[in-house]
Amino acid sequence: MRRPMVAGNWKMHGTRASVAELIKGLRQLALSTGVDVAVFPPCLYVSQVVEGLAGKSMVVGAQNCAYEPLQGALTGEVAASQLHDAGCKMVLVGHSERRLLLSESDEAVARKFAAAQSCGLTPILCVGETREQREAGKTLEVVSRQLDSVIESLGVGVFAQAVIAYEPVWAIGTGLTATPDEAQSVHAAIRAQLAAENAEVARGVRILYGGSVKAANAAELFGMPDIDGGLVGGASLNADEFGAICRAAGN
Ligand code: PGA
Repeated sequence: MRRPMVAGNWKMHGTRASVAELIKGLRQLALSTGVDVAVFPPCLYVSQVVEGLAGKSMVVGAQNCAYEPLQGALTGEVAASQLHDAGCKMVLVGHSERRLLLSESDEAVARKFAAAQSCGLTPILCVGETREQREAGKTLEVVSRQLDSVIESLGVGVFAQAVIAYEPVWAIGTGLTATPDEAQSVHAAIRAQLAAENAEVARGVRILYGGSVKAANAAELFGMPDIDGGLVGGASLNADEFGAICRAAGN
């Protein structure tokens, strides 16, 4: 049985004061023991969140890391080793906002994935198609290529210590959600692609759905056989809403 996970991606939101408020709300949540919960604040606030959530069974992660694993001369970047030192346990790699708005290539994503694992961080590899790609019938082709670029450079075994998030770009921050069936069919294809190389890894890896997940649609999505939880953006900035999504995953 795969343990469900709910991950909150705060994106580039927050101030010291609003982060303190959110921590307060998260500390008050009564979480089910049947779900892993992680939050991904902006890098600047990681230490504040790590300290603020001390003693709670919530993991803190970062939204990105440098492709070089260790500290060095790379102005403006943050190394996976530094994130680990600051108390992070996970890191998002290949979020579509970085792939599309910051031109992050499949190759860079694979390097970041490797950097994360080499420093003891669990990467969440984000994959997903744009609206144009979906309308052209290319969803599975796009997602499969994004997954393959990691498998080809690092081997399928790396997914024994990683999480995947399927996030259709057209559903992110738009209020549009893939239907449970639409999402399930992509999740099943991702798992089948891994299974073709290693059945055990495929069975064990958690595949989260992301794209306008909220309390009102979470249970239906998480009820699908290959959807193991959610990567939540906007709704993760509200502790009560986020808590409701975590409960939906734990049930
Ligand atoms: P959203 O974002 O829940 O606001 O759609 C999801 C994500 O980008 O991770």
